[in-house]
Amino acid sequence: MMKTAIFGHRGYPAQFPENSLAGFSYALDHHVDGLEFDVQLTKDQIPVIMHDETLDRTSTGTGLLKNYTLAELRQFHLDRGEVIPTLTEFLTLVGQCDVQLNLEFKTNKVRYPGIERIVLATLRNFSLARPVIFSSFRLASLRACQLLAPDASYCWLTDHPVVNAAAFVANEHLSGLHLSHYQHAPVTERIWTVDDPQVACDLFERPVAGIFTDDFMNMMRLRDRLLL
Ligand code: G3P
Ligand code: MG
Repeated sequence: MMKTAIFGHRGYPAQFPENSLAGFSYALDHHVDGLEFDVQLTKDQIPVIMHDETLDRTSTGTGLLKNYTLAELRQFHLDRGEVIPTLTEFLTLVGQCDVQLNLEFKTNKVRYPGIERIVLATLRNFSLARPVIFSSFRLASLRACQLLAPDASYCWLTDHPVVNAAAFVANEHLSGLHLSHYQHAPVTERIWTVDDPQVACDLFERPVAGIFTDDFMNMMRLRDRLLL
């Protein structure tokens, strides 16, 4: 059976605040295959890692993230005293770890003009063990990034079936699709968010290239038992 890669979706939110350095650090220490994380820009154009466009659900702040400078954001905290990490802090933590990173441009609601160039410039300061996979629900973000880094790996995120998936992937110069449901398309597929063990087992057997899960420890145990 092909070994399906297991990605910590926003780190390890089953046990730590989502998209926090504490969760990412635990996942790296426990040899997670991959980490998925969401990138947005502060008012002073610093790339930071947070899922929602607003601060309210996961932090002590309120309103849109884009309206705060990094210094202002640092007044707020996530659960357990964590703060919203910058992309630089996260990449420093990752260092040379053998982990597959999936950077999601969170540009489907707030556009963040120039985010692709800023993210690529930040990434150039690091020498990661593996090239990053870029994803976004916003195809225009992937296209903008492709102009700057044509050889990088790009996956479009969608929760709808993709018609003629192979042709679509080829035409858009993608390396695959990140889908909310398995599609049995002749392309690289990674599926989010898989927390049900039965669904995971079905996907391990199909197989798919990867799954995104809120509980990577549970899913890695499950997969590795099946592979024995
Ligand atoms: O990349 C998979 C998944 O993270 C996409 O949805 O809303 O959790 O960013 P979301
Ligand atoms: Mg995401």
